[in-house]
Amino acid sequence: MTAKTMEELVSLCKRRGFIFQSNDIYGGIKGLYDYGPMGVELKNNLKQSWWKSMIYERDDIEGLDSAILTAPEVLKHSGHEDTFSDPLVDCKSCKSRWRADQLEDQSCPACKSKNLTEPRPFNLMFKTAIGPVDDGSSFAYLRPETAQQIFTNFKNVLTSTNKTIPFGIAQIGKSFRNEITPRNFIFRVREFEQMELEFFVDPGEDETWHQYWIDSRYNWWLNQGINKNNLELLEIEKSELSHYSKSTIDIMYKFPHGKEELEGIANRTDFDLGSHTKNQEEFNIQAKVMKNDKSTTKLAIHNLEKKTWTIPFVIEPSAGVDRGVLAILNEAYKEEKIDEKNSRIVLTLKPHLSPIKAAVIPLKKNNAEIVNESKNIKAVLQKLGLGRVVLENSGNIGKSYRRHDEIGTPICITVDFETLENKTVTVRDRDSMKQKRISPEDLVNYYKDYFI
Ligand code: GAP
Repeated sequence: MTAKTMEELVSLCKRRGFIFQSNDIYGGIKGLYDYGPMGVELKNNLKQSWWKSMIYERDDIEGLDSAILTAPEVLKHSGHEDTFSDPLVDCKSCKSRWRADQLEDQSCPACKSKNLTEPRPFNLMFKTAIGPVDDGSSFAYLRPETAQQIFTNFKNVLTSTNKTIPFGIAQIGKSFRNEITPRNFIFRVREFEQMELEFFVDPGEDETWHQYWIDSRYNWWLNQGINKNNLELLEIEKSELSHYSKSTIDIMYKFPHGKEELEGIANRTDFDLGSHTKNQEEFNIQAKVMKNDKSTTKLAIHNLEKKTWTIPFVIEPSAGVDRGVLAILNEAYKEEKIDEKNSRIVLTLKPHLSPIKAAVIPLKKNNAEIVNESKNIKAVLQKLGLGRVVLENSGNIGKSYRRHDEIGTPICITVDFETLENKTVTVRDRDSMKQKRISPEDLVNYYKDYFI
């Protein structure tokens, strides 16, 4: 079972400190959200899981953390200045603005007027001035995707790590798009995070690698707790492909508002390195690229045996962190009947994603011995480095269980008078709600078994 509506998720996120409307006390800004104490942990855990699977568990991918502010030349040659736009219409009656391709009945969603302007392209990139003089002569864009600086750093990473194709560069970070109609909570926002891999391959091997990454990424989402009945692979029609893509498969997820893209996996051919390389005429670039006389660097691989230079093809799995968080919250949200009278909301998150890994709860809030013993247990578990462990000293065990069910804490550990005598504690499993008493020697292994 998932959440029934987006409202249920929005309400849980606010109540339990996952996600808040940004700039809220001044009325908020549409399409911007802040991650609260639980949200930042969940988001970090998701990113860490991606980073581990991309970098630590393999030896053919390196990481990168590039600047957000991006020189106009980069986004000119990537095609973003010319093509990164949505069709915009103005409502002449109420002066609101909408995406033309999202209108129903060609009428204004706010006032229902049909008195609309013709659609015109609206570039989605944010600009900002560089330096103290804001006269338009020196500006940068806030990157609309993390991918472009991976391409501009291709040679730096290649030469500093002695890699050769096939190999990849992975990056997680913020991207910015001035969406005309941000909507559906954190699904379509103006400031979001992406987890992008650019995987460089021999031109003849691109299709095999494309399929490899489609399978790999699909399985990764299953491992994050997404049910396969809620996932679907969608091949994008040729007429709908982005300018750089030979073929794109979207991983679609059944969000509360409908089935939409969670991640795209594109075969970007030699478009990117071919667009940003110097001396384009030296290479047999297959994609249609803009002439580049500004780049200072050859973005190609030297084959020492064949004595040839090749511009690699790029396979790009590109996932949205915020959409991932939304899908995972939706998937984990359950309302369960406990008995005739009572029910509970529980987030059955995979333990590696849970914001809090364990809560240590003293039975008596004001009993110094019990509280001290609880602090000691927290410190021991915290030192294992598997994530955040909290001391939950509310003095109300029932309330503590309810709170930790709702934020998805896999284990609650209660410390009571018996603990003072023989060091045993009561552990409660989130999903089964079963409780048992265990010895201090068993506690560390019991805890570790959830995560390793
Ligand atoms: N480098 C390729 C690229 O950026 P994209 O399909 O435009 O491709 C990739 O974006 C992913 O980024 C999407 O699948 C989605 O998860 C996320 N994304 C894109 N625009 C977004 C937005 N406005 N709000 C939240 N996530 C977004």
